[in-house]
Amino acid sequence: MKLTDALLGEHGVLYALFEHVSHVVATSNEIGEVRSAVSVLEKLLLSHARLEEDLLFPNLEPRLGPMGPLAVMRAEHREIDQFFETAKQSEDIGSLKKVVGDLLDVAHDHFQKEEMALFAMARQVLDEATLSRLGDEWAASRKVKVDSQGCMGAA
Ligand SMILES: [Fe+2]
Ligand SMILES: [Fe+2]
Repeated sequence: MKLTDALLGEHGVLYALFEHVSHVVATSNEIGEVRSAVSVLEKLLLSHARLEEDLLFPNLEPRLGPMGPLAVMRAEHREIDQFFETAKQSEDIGSLKKVVGDLLDVAHDHFQKEEMALFAMARQVLDEATLSRLGDEWAASRKVKVDSQGCMGAA
């Protein structure tokens, strides 16, 4: 499996989580409930961004250079980190909801840019073998088995 397909699959799950957090923000006035939804989002989003920064960005950098889209994507990852820090410091439900709403907007836009620009560039500048090797590294890191032959044996 190509790394870009794996990352797209993660986006699919994270979009579902964005909807869940958005629903909690819209319907709950319990600060603890909002905080716990945000805490799950933080763990999963940061883990996703770390895989992009460890596996995808360094392999694109020799082709795209450190500036341009990679600089924008890295800056947006830092911006999202900052939203989580601000959310942790928000003491009242109103300001917490505002920060989380802004965070969801930025994260959603960031995903759209990756899907429409960065992942498309990755498929253009990295060959099939490289994308598959990186997909294997993604699977090892996520503990996902992708080799069905190894699973089914030779029967
Ligand atoms: Fe990202
Ligand atoms: Fe992403």
